[in-house]
Amino acid sequence: MMPVIEARNISKNFGRFQALRNVSFSAAPGEVHALCGENGAGKSTLVKILTGVLQPDDGQTLIGGEVHGIADTQHAQALKIGYVSQELSIAPHLSVLDNVWLGCRGVPLLHRRNELRERARRALNLVGLAHLSLERRAGTLALGEQQLVEIARMMVRDVAVLFLDEPTATLSDREIECVFSAIRELRRNGKTMIYISHRLGEVMDLCDRVTILRNGENVISTDVADISRGKLVEHMLGRSLSEMYPQAGGMSSVGALEIRGLMVPGKIRGLDFAVPRGKILCLAGQMGSGATEAVRALAGLVHDATGSVVLDGMPLKLGSVHTLLERNMRFVSEDRAGEGLFLNLSVEENFAATQFDVVRRFGLLLPAPVRELAERLADIVTVNPDRLRSRCGDLSGGNQQKIAIGRCITPGSGILLMNEPTRGVDVGARAEIYALMRQLCDQGYAVVMTSTDLEEVVGLADMVLTMYRGARVSLYGRDEISASRILLDITHPLTYENAA
Ligand SMILES: Nc1ncnc2c1ncn2[C@@H]1O[C@H](COP(=O)(O)OP(=O)(O)OP(=O)(O)O)[C@@H](O)[C@H]1O
Ligand SMILES: [Mg+2]
Repeated sequence: MMPVIEARNISKNFGRFQALRNVSFSAAPGEVHALCGENGAGKSTLVKILTGVLQPDDGQTLIGGEVHGIADTQHAQALKIGYVSQELSIAPHLSVLDNVWLGCRGVPLLHRRNELRERARRALNLVGLAHLSLERRAGTLALGEQQLVEIARMMVRDVAVLFLDEPTATLSDREIECVFSAIRELRRNGKTMIYISHRLGEVMDLCDRVTILRNGENVISTDVADISRGKLVEHMLGRSLSEMYPQAGGMSSVGALEIRGLMVPGKIRGLDFAVPRGKILCLAGQMGSGATEAVRALAGLVHDATGSVVLDGMPLKLGSVHTLLERNMRFVSEDRAGEGLFLNLSVEENFAATQFDVVRRFGLLLPAPVRELAERLADIVTVNPDRLRSRCGDLSGGNQQKIAIGRCITPGSGILLMNEPTRGVDVGARAEIYALMRQLCDQGYAVVMTSTDLEEVVGLADMVLTMYRGARVSLYGRDEISASRILLDITHPLTYENAA
């Protein structure tokens, strides 16, 4: 079948860095085509070229079999090419309705308000936002809902080809199902979708074909049915990945973090749990379950949280950031760009910023200790020491996340609080982060984390506490953890109870 969209021998440089080298790609009508590769492989760059955001330095783009430039994003829209970018582009002060129509060519002239509302409503329903008011200010929505609004934005347009760059990175399982059903609906209507995700389970479930890039070059394009998941990973990394998840540690020795009666008005209704040093406890739940808030509350970031926290037998005042720092309890945010890192500072400065006491002499930051600290942390989290002077924002998602974790490593062992520790991180870096977390645990750390990636929860956690609407459903030890149990708990705990 004639491809609807095609790239031939595309090259693209950023300064001296070559992000794409002779890359070719094509997608047929009615196909869901995955674009896979490690962080920095060039996926987003290729997508930006095919959506008019960037111009190639060399090579051709073809639409419907004919060589055809894509001058800019407006032009892409005229060519019926849609794009949901990796970075959110919600206008926070506008309503949901206005956000759905934002950037759509010629809308106000052509349509009556009622029709605009109706079509927006239908699009929102399609992505599982039936409950959402059109008048709601988009800035008040949760991150996942904002992402769904962005997808709905493409549903009201008449697109033939839709590029989705990591649309599910911020979504819960239920929301991902909504996106999948929307994608399947579009496929039934003969639309073409190009889908980027680091969650390989999604690629195997959803996509018909897959193209793999590595270091800015083509590796292979094939039917998904013809490739195993192991092979997929091997092509992405250029090597085989023997173990994704590290071996769980032995019995923990001393100390623990104990939480009693954790409450956040309207969000968490009294939560009790304990995690011994040496263990990873995962709070699993959908958006609205309170899992993320629980971790943020422990990190002192929720002002109306109450409850008792005891660390190694000594009480710890909830909400006192000073005490948290003193007792080596640190938070790794799910929002790297917003609150995890200083993207405009160097890697070295990012490391130094959380440990002033180590690098400061007489109130001054001295270059030698800063460098020394940075080198030590870079070594622990396996970031290339040549990158210490680079701007943090120029590094791949995987490297950024390693730095965010490195910032939290303190002398002596501590407690790591982590929300979504591998969001947007590729398989290779992901395995390294898991190994790092396990290594820290073996040194006496305890980890309390949340994840909406069920596979990660099952593979990584020593204990899983499932949550639904602000309360605990069950607690599982390593040997009791299974994806189906967790899924039941976090989606339909009542059905489960009735069935049991
Ligand atoms: N505007 C830019 N200036 C300089 N370098 C860039 C720019 N955009 C991308 N790069 C570099 O080009 C390479 C490819 O980046 P790209 O964003 O396409 O990767 P990706 O495959 O989408 O990765 P990820 O999975 O992390 O999103 C990376 O090394 C990145 O640092
Ligand atoms: Mg990308």
